[in-house]
Amino acid sequence: MTFALAGTRLSAAPSELVLAPQEIKARFRGQDVSMLGFNGGLPGPEIRVRQGQNVQIILENRLDEGALVHWHGLRVPNRMDGVNVLTQDVVIPGDSYRYQFGVPDAGTFWYHSHYLSYEQVGRGLFGAFIVEEKNVPAVDHDIVVQFFDVLLDEAGQYEDEFNAAHFSTEGRIGNLVMADVSNGTGQIVKRGDRLRLRLINPSIDRVYRVSLDGLEGKIVALDGMPLAHPRALEPILLAPGQRCDVIGDATGPIRFDDSFGERTLSLGVITVSGSRDPAKTPITALPANRMPAPKDPGQTAELVLQGGAGSASHSGTATWALNDVSGLPRTPFLSVAQGTTARISIRNETEFPHVMHLHGHHFWELDAAGEAGPYRDSIYLDIGETQDILVVLDNPGSWMLHCHMLSHQADGMATWIKVG
Ligand code: C2O
Ligand code: CU
Repeated sequence: MTFALAGTRLSAAPSELVLAPQEIKARFRGQDVSMLGFNGGLPGPEIRVRQGQNVQIILENRLDEGALVHWHGLRVPNRMDGVNVLTQDVVIPGDSYRYQFGVPDAGTFWYHSHYLSYEQVGRGLFGAFIVEEKNVPAVDHDIVVQFFDVLLDEAGQYEDEFNAAHFSTEGRIGNLVMADVSNGTGQIVKRGDRLRLRLINPSIDRVYRVSLDGLEGKIVALDGMPLAHPRALEPILLAPGQRCDVIGDATGPIRFDDSFGERTLSLGVITVSGSRDPAKTPITALPANRMPAPKDPGQTAELVLQGGAGSASHSGTATWALNDVSGLPRTPFLSVAQGTTARISIRNETEFPHVMHLHGHHFWELDAAGEAGPYRDSIYLDIGETQDILVVLDNPGSWMLHCHMLSHQADGMATWIKVG
């Protein structure tokens, strides 16, 4: 377990931000390890802007391979989405690319490489992208926590062997797990302080079930979108790509434990020092983002997740497939007019969990009765599970829909939707 209380913030200034992916040395288990980072850091700098702002970010590729950045969960114009083939060309070494977009939604988002992402994200090309509400809810600390794992070899270096078994099972699970904690105020947390925790899972394949000790509060947002009714603070399932916002009052050191695997794993702790009387003001819902209203579904579709070790054969050519197709097909899984409401039934026929991520939109998770649950941009599907989603496809362009377990994406579990 590593614990870092650090972080650079690139903030709201209207000036241009630069993101430069490059090779870096990270310090793991007392050793320098060759990794990748944006602007020299792993995670990359925290980008923090205000809702409604226009953002300009220059990607300066200092790698010796291609680069692209995707703004995960942000509803950006398609040209800005950072996806090879579908939305732009790969930025070659030494070249740069200007991303320019507005940020309609306040919440916790993140950015990451979308080129060879299994490899590049796994080596460290990711960071938090925070969009602050116009009226920021009053808290004493606004803390970003990113859970990340890395697979190190016997010498303690990044394992760069390709292991076929990783791709056909639960993915590549690291043997070093860390919680990177970034507290913008730089202030020590006191007992009784009110905190907003923004949990992000940028790990390529690892799922966490995070329990929080030492905090009394509520879950207020999932995948960046406020919950209409904040939920009790129960252990939080955080699959790759997913986020969760919690607001609560510190009752002691705040410990993050993961109980997804067989053994409980300590992920990290935020220490406290001193105390004060807690605010006692109730924790209420965050202001809703302006989302398109659904109509009767003009389109229904089924997406079947297939492949991997131990499952029936499929006709896709790679390990994993969606509806019998592996990898991005020439024609989209779905092609609809702009503004169409679609209901998609996603069925996991494999022997492993997955997390399906749709670009450029948020969707509702539907319960068994068809009632709309929370908005998500990445939805977890357990083994054998079927989950229906409802989405207003109002953002024109070609949008990727893929498993955010990046080993699965790399080995076939990806398709796309065409809007307009
Ligand atoms: Cu967070 Cu297609 O990715
Ligand atoms: Cu998957």
